[in-house]
Amino acid sequence: MTFVESLAEKAALDLSRSKSVVALTGAGISVESGIPPFRGKGGVWEKIDPAYAHIDTFHNDPEKVWEVLLKGLKDLVDRARPNPAHEGLARLETLGVLQTVITQNVDGLHQMAGSTDVIEFHGSFAWHKCMDCGSRCPNSELDLNRLPPRCRCGGIFRPELVFFGEMIPSHHLMRSEQIASECDIMLVVGTSAIVQPAALMPVIAKNAGATVIEINKEPTPLTGTISSYSIMGKAGEVISDIVAELELIMKPQ
Ligand code: APR
Ligand code: ZN
Repeated sequence: MTFVESLAEKAALDLSRSKSVVALTGAGISVESGIPPFRGKGGVWEKIDPAYAHIDTFHNDPEKVWEVLLKGLKDLVDRARPNPAHEGLARLETLGVLQTVITQNVDGLHQMAGSTDVIEFHGSFAWHKCMDCGSRCPNSELDLNRLPPRCRCGGIFRPELVFFGEMIPSHHLMRSEQIASECDIMLVVGTSAIVQPAALMPVIAKNAGATVIEINKEPTPLTGTISSYSIMGKAGEVISDIVAELELIMKPQ
């Protein structure tokens, strides 16, 4: 029998015995990188009406949506760097423990930290697409001196993210559902787990028999229901603890 002293140690033990691990991440994992979450205290939707994130609003008044929502998001994404939570998940991949990250974030921080298999469930802010000719522009080259940003052809650029009212790209959805149904552990990190269909992934994993380990600053609808256990704390600290425990377990004796 193995005695565990902390939930981080329990998670490390579970991970060391697993065959297939996936992480589902949300805005909470990037909070320690300076990007605010959407919901809760200090969240984006406290200051900005979420209607600005709806595709219909963007089509009706792209200038306003760039001004109110997207310009600020670009500033945040441009400045953000990975934190110990992103780095810890990348380390889990290097250790051969974690295979895939499904993220609802559009900030690219998992890839910057070194994760190589990242499903960007809600798309990405790394590229923008002209709504007229389909040309793509990398975020670093997007000119926001005049809003909305425009392509050479005169068309308006939109970020390649999923607005409210848009479908999740079907290949992302299908692959995520597949992975969720096949994993034996799902780490659910920093998501309020209320936006569908992303919030369905832990349910799929649980129903297929996986251990769902939740890491969040506060309880969510998954806590005590879908989650096998929840580790309450900041993602950066909790994931660093888990990685440290796992490295001890995996160290050759
Ligand atoms: N460490 C861990 N968890 C944290 C931290 C932190 N440092 N800071 C905040 N959290 C948690 C909050 O407790 C909350 O449960 O992260 C969660 C953030 O929730 P949301 O802001 O709702 O973010 P998310 O779940 O990713 O939102 C889903 O909604 O509007 C959208 O499209 C947007 O992808 C986004 C989707
Ligand atoms: Zn164009």
